[in-house]
Amino acid sequence: MTISRKDVAEHFSLRAPTYDRSSSWCTDTDLGDLLLELARPERHHRVLDVACGTGLVSRLFSGRVAELVGVDLTEEMAEQAAPHLDRLVISPAEHLPFEDSTFDVVVCRQGIQFMDLPDAVAEMVRVVRPGGRVVVVNLCAYDKTDREEYFEILRLRNPVRRHFFLPSDLEDLLRKAGCDGTDTRSYVSLEDVDIWSDNGAIEEGRREAIREVYRTASLNFRSLHAVREADGRFTDHMLFVLAAGTKPEPGPTPSEESNDASVRRTRG
Ligand SMILES: C[S@@+](CC[C@H](N)C(=O)[O-])C[C@H]1O[C@@H](n2cnc3c(N)ncnc32)[C@H](O)[C@@H]1O
Repeated sequence: MTISRKDVAEHFSLRAPTYDRSSSWCTDTDLGDLLLELARPERHHRVLDVACGTGLVSRLFSGRVAELVGVDLTEEMAEQAAPHLDRLVISPAEHLPFEDSTFDVVVCRQGIQFMDLPDAVAEMVRVVRPGGRVVVVNLCAYDKTDREEYFEILRLRNPVRRHFFLPSDLEDLLRKAGCDGTDTRSYVSLEDVDIWSDNGAIEEGRREAIREVYRTASLNFRSLHAVREADGRFTDHMLFVLAAGTKPEPGPTPSEESNDASVRRTRG
């Protein structure tokens, strides 16, 4: 089945009223601090929050930078971000309506799993200035051994998800889009599966199917995710990967290089 942008926007319009309470990571200040550490915002910076949703990431930057712009597909999500932004743009991330090199920092948390890849990451790198930072943050499987079970859980919880990641995938996407100086961190978020699956957009049947994956999970999965069960409720230690990269400064043009060489020759 092909998942369209309309499907994604419909899914998130259902989730919009309760989105901020749907996961403990949404408002986790330690995860937010780690994102800020990688983004390195400065007072004079222009910052773009891609897939800004209700503005949970935008709020981290609000009041700290010169200009804060949010982009999202889903109006019902993004209208909650608007009060925290200087400007809100409803647009697909794959076609950002900004000139090249407009921003000092571009961030995208829990967005690229719904996007055309690698195009969306290439767009983020296009609109950041040389020397600027791009930071992507996503839930990932711990490694190849838990991916089948974990991706099944993620697929059940969000039927419009198109991509599933291993920890190295995010840095690879940034490098392939032209970033260097990449840096990856990880963060573990403790989630109550019953709260996390009650996202306002899936039926009880899917929530029960998620519980069943936990009930029958392999020992390896249970151990990697430190799964705990009490009274039929599960908790999972979910892995976030935060990857940051820098857009390289352009090298000298061939004519600048030859001028430079002739200056060096002249100086002897
Ligand atoms: C899981 S929410 C993340 C929201 C926010 N970044 C956060 O960390 O809380 C995903 C958001 O991505 C948006 N989104 C999905 N696909 C998109 C696309 N192709 N272009 C722009 N936004 C998109 C959805 O509308 C939704 O608001």
